[in-house]
Amino acid sequence: MPEHDVLIIGAGLAGQRAALAAAQSGVSVAIMSKVHPVRSHSVAAAGGINAAISVSDDWRSHAYDTVKGSDYLGDQDAIEAMCREAPGEVMHLEHIGVTFHRNDAGELDLRAFGGASINRTAYVADITGQAILHVLYEQLMRNASTVARYEEWFVTSLLIDDGGSCTGVVARHIRSGAMETFAAKSVILASGGAGQCFKPTTNALICTADGLAQALRAGAPLMDMEMIQYHPTTLLENGLLITEGARGEGAHLLNKDGERFMSKAAPNKMELASRDVVSRAEQIEINEGRGVGPDGQGVYLDITVVPRKRTLEALREIVNIGRDFAGVDITREPIIIRPGQHYIMGGVKTDIQGQTPIAGLYAAGEVACVSVHGGNRLGANSLLDTLIFGRRAGEDAAERARSTPMPACSDAQLRNDERMIAEIMARPRKGRRISELKNELGTTMNRYCAVFREADGLQSAYGTVKRLQEEAQNAYIDDRGTVFNQDVLGAIELGYMLETAEAIVLSAIDRKESRGAQFRTDFPERNDAEWLKHINVALGEDGSPEISYSPVTITQWRPEERTY
Ligand code: FUM
Repeated sequence: MPEHDVLIIGAGLAGQRAALAAAQSGVSVAIMSKVHPVRSHSVAAAGGINAAISVSDDWRSHAYDTVKGSDYLGDQDAIEAMCREAPGEVMHLEHIGVTFHRNDAGELDLRAFGGASINRTAYVADITGQAILHVLYEQLMRNASTVARYEEWFVTSLLIDDGGSCTGVVARHIRSGAMETFAAKSVILASGGAGQCFKPTTNALICTADGLAQALRAGAPLMDMEMIQYHPTTLLENGLLITEGARGEGAHLLNKDGERFMSKAAPNKMELASRDVVSRAEQIEINEGRGVGPDGQGVYLDITVVPRKRTLEALREIVNIGRDFAGVDITREPIIIRPGQHYIMGGVKTDIQGQTPIAGLYAAGEVACVSVHGGNRLGANSLLDTLIFGRRAGEDAAERARSTPMPACSDAQLRNDERMIAEIMARPRKGRRISELKNELGTTMNRYCAVFREADGLQSAYGTVKRLQEEAQNAYIDDRGTVFNQDVLGAIELGYMLETAEAIVLSAIDRKESRGAQFRTDFPERNDAEWLKHINVALGEDGSPEISYSPVTITQWRPEERTY
């Protein structure tokens, strides 16, 4: 049985940063991922990473913007830690080879981004995630003697011992179908978010809530799950991300009358208000008949106001996306966009070292809720979150491993998981396919759990999720083989998504106010007196989700009215 001091699940930015930090502490480290690391969803992060680097900036200003952006639901101790450490992290990236854009003076250039009171987003054109991911992967290979890599391994269970500590995982080798138990003193979940619970989404097909459901099943609480971010600019046709960097460079949002409608919702920040505010403003234009495109379901993003040379240099990826997926030359004509599911602010509850309430189990990146994003994440704070809390989790997990004996794990869970997979493969080919259920889940969540929500729609979503959970027990797959059987993984992923979707919907039903990304048309005001608190979802004795509450940590910024 393979044994590692620190085992990291997920090889995006949080996972790779955690691995490098843990390796530096001199312990044995392994990183496991269901895809090759450079195919992780971090590769899609476009516009940049926030850090108060400029001489006229200060980490406290970054922290305040983040607290305000979170609609005061973010934990301020965590936000302070993230913003204080941000400049050092970005300089570290620069020193290990990330080719951040520089200005004419040769300094790191910083672009404007939503909700920020000053330009503080360092960037590599609009491929920032890809640039960082590749450099970290080079560092991993440089540390190949201390960091083992299990690429294309799919985790089926976390192992929890009788004392309630996490002691490793069971995983399936995707290439061969072999199952293996891995023992570890510390396990770090860095397996990304839950975007595939929604359709469409900007998220990759791999973002199927695996770590969220695995942690929930293992007894860990999920926090702030109702807080789902709809990015203001996704392609009308298919939900592909059009980076906020476009608005950072000066692009305008226009309705069918050519009006810059953000002047109504955010007269000071206009298109660079925080994402929840901009997405709501767009949805109001669409709902009130001022949208454009088929059925008026979009609004215009006009990038032609940005100098063409600058667009070709700094926004080159969305030039390609516009041309290839919408047939639009964004340097010459507006492109039609709409709000689209992009990110989950909630996740596995952790402290600021990434430790979950389960000893030995850590979480970092989008799978985690530290919580630095609260009700609404600022653009370009997610790359930062992955790196700061990936590093912190890696360091703490290594520290724990130094004083913890290697756990003795049995193969009992492996046998259970083998039986579970055999049962999926043996299902008769009748009824509904896994992909049909996944589609219904995604469209339901996108209809009822989106920019605007209300009780009846959420109850309807809840009913659908519960029915789909039943149907998923019998849904069939075609592939019965062992080699690269993505079908059987899809069935397991559907289970992860349905459990996570239930937590999302239950939390959204429970929060009877409007805050950040949760806008309840039946409770349109923020209500600090009753709802300045986190909602936690954990499984009760009978295995069904139960809700509890925890306080928001406030260090220096009391809640105020939020205007942009
Ligand atoms: O629009 C974007 O470039 C996305 C950035 C982010 O989600 O942080």
